[in-house]
Amino acid sequence: MKPTGNITTAALGSFLLLLCACSARGDYCEVNACHNGATCVTGVGEDPFICICADGFGGDTCNLTETGPCSPNPCRNDGSCEVIAPTRRGDVFNEYVCKCQPGFEGAHCQINVNDCAKDPCRNGGTCRDLDGDYTCQCPSPYVGKQCQLRCITLLGMEGGAIAESQISASSVHYGVLGLQRWGPELARLNNQGIVNAWTSASHDRNPWIEINMQKKMRLTGIITQGASRMGAAEYIKAFKVASSLDGISYVTYKGDGIRRDKVFVGNVDNDSTKTNLFDPPIVAQYIRIIPVVCRKACTLRMELVGCELNVYSNTAGCSEPLGMKSRLISDDQLSASSTYRTWGIDTFTWHPQFARLDKAGKTNAWSPTQNNRSEWIQVDLGKTKQLTGIITQGAKDFGVVQFVSEFKVAYSNDGESWNVVQDGNTGSDQIFQGNTDNNSHKKNVFEPPFYAQYVRVIPWEWHERITLRMELLGCDD
Ligand SMILES: *[C@@H]1O[C@H](CO)[C@@H](O)[C@H](O)[C@H]1NC(C)=O
Ligand SMILES: *[C@@H]1O[C@H](CO)[C@@H](O)[C@H](O)[C@H]1NC(C)=O
Ligand SMILES: *[C@@H]1O[C@H](CO)[C@@H](O)[C@H](O)[C@H]1NC(C)=O
Ligand SMILES: *[C@@H]1O[C@H](CO)[C@@H](O)[C@H](O)[C@H]1NC(C)=O
Repeated sequence: MKPTGNITTAALGSFLLLLCACSARGDYCEVNACHNGATCVTGVGEDPFICICADGFGGDTCNLTETGPCSPNPCRNDGSCEVIAPTRRGDVFNEYVCKCQPGFEGAHCQINVNDCAKDPCRNGGTCRDLDGDYTCQCPSPYVGKQCQLRCITLLGMEGGAIAESQISASSVHYGVLGLQRWGPELARLNNQGIVNAWTSASHDRNPWIEINMQKKMRLTGIITQGASRMGAAEYIKAFKVASSLDGISYVTYKGDGIRRDKVFVGNVDNDSTKTNLFDPPIVAQYIRIIPVVCRKACTLRMELVGCELNVYSNTAGCSEPLGMKSRLISDDQLSASSTYRTWGIDTFTWHPQFARLDKAGKTNAWSPTQNNRSEWIQVDLGKTKQLTGIITQGAKDFGVVQFVSEFKVAYSNDGESWNVVQDGNTGSDQIFQGNTDNNSHKKNVFEPPFYAQYVRVIPWEWHERITLRMELLGCDD
């Protein structure tokens, strides 16, 4: 690359921004002194105006032509161009090679490799091609990266593995002069006897019954059943389901892509069973059944269907990239406390959507307006996942190396109440060691792993300006 003006093109890329030392006053852009389709901008920094050159031009006023086979960059899809000694390959002269990002190939990285071509998803899973990866949407009760696992264990309401002490309810109905207790511990599928189910008190306007599974489990379905009392059928015709990881904050099940609470269709008589699948599955420790419409009274016998999470019992088995780089995490799942614009120019906005590991381009990372500890970037994973680690990376802003050298991590299940990852030794917020340069990957492991839908990175120390590219590691559990 040949130097242009006093800044090298290598430092700036082909889209040069140079400062003009002009002495005239007034609106410096009124007569456009910038050539070759460049944009003239005033009022940024100390210089009267600057020219933002079109691809392939350089110099103070963009009157110089950048030359060389890599200018402008012939490589597509964030591929990088490298000049090589001219070689003859067949009948074609090559003066450059394109180094492609994963998932792209071809002389100019123009081909998006179809990672679904080999049909990696089993059991009716739907494959979606990502950049250098794929994801399987598994029909319940199948789970796993390739939908290879069936999650259909009966969790023990009927069998007894779930103890009485794990079952609680908002209220209990007492029948026959208070002698019959229709307690939650009776809500077991196919329970027999005269008093054989849970019934909420008739005055209870917001009834619920809850199972504490004592650890986080994956639930793929629920089987419900009514009962008969004094010769009359009582059952729950429609219900909602809420779940919690901690027994404090609860989320109501919504189903995939639906904003409203999902209402499940329940029973129609005193005895037959009704199975509903959770698609996608619920990962939780506490599950609550919330009757919406009851026939005579809210009376229930039930079973839960699911499986253990220990498919990936060690973190080594659960450290897939969760989709910053592959774009499984879409732009609208990324947000931040604020967004910086270099010299206030929209073209150079450091969006949170740019915080993807190895992103290329002039503005290729997230950066906030202020460099202080109140700033954050947030990932909404769309559903609860197990998080086992994070990879961070800095970037350069017009040649200036910038990175986050220390950060904290917070997580949430509702996007409102947050827990900061704690240091097991000191009992205070853990400070992760971040980057030391503009490009290398720094990996940190979460020990122990945590479960969350929302993750925030809170920069704590930085070099020059808070600038971050990243990837989250974990698995679908
Ligand atoms: C480009 O413009 C500068 C003044 O802005 C001038 O000194 C220089 O000679 C010009 N170069 C060419 C190649 O036109
Ligand atoms: C309860 O269900 C059984 C079996 O389906 C049926 O024989 C019985 O009549 C039902 N009882 C009531 C009260 O509906
Ligand atoms: C960070 O900057 C913002 C915006 O200037 C300000 O409101 C906030 O108080 C600052 N926080 C800290 C901790 O300095
Ligand atoms: C930035 O990272 C690249 C790639 O690792 C490296 O070649 C370059 O020297 C770094 N730039 C600076 C100024 O440290």
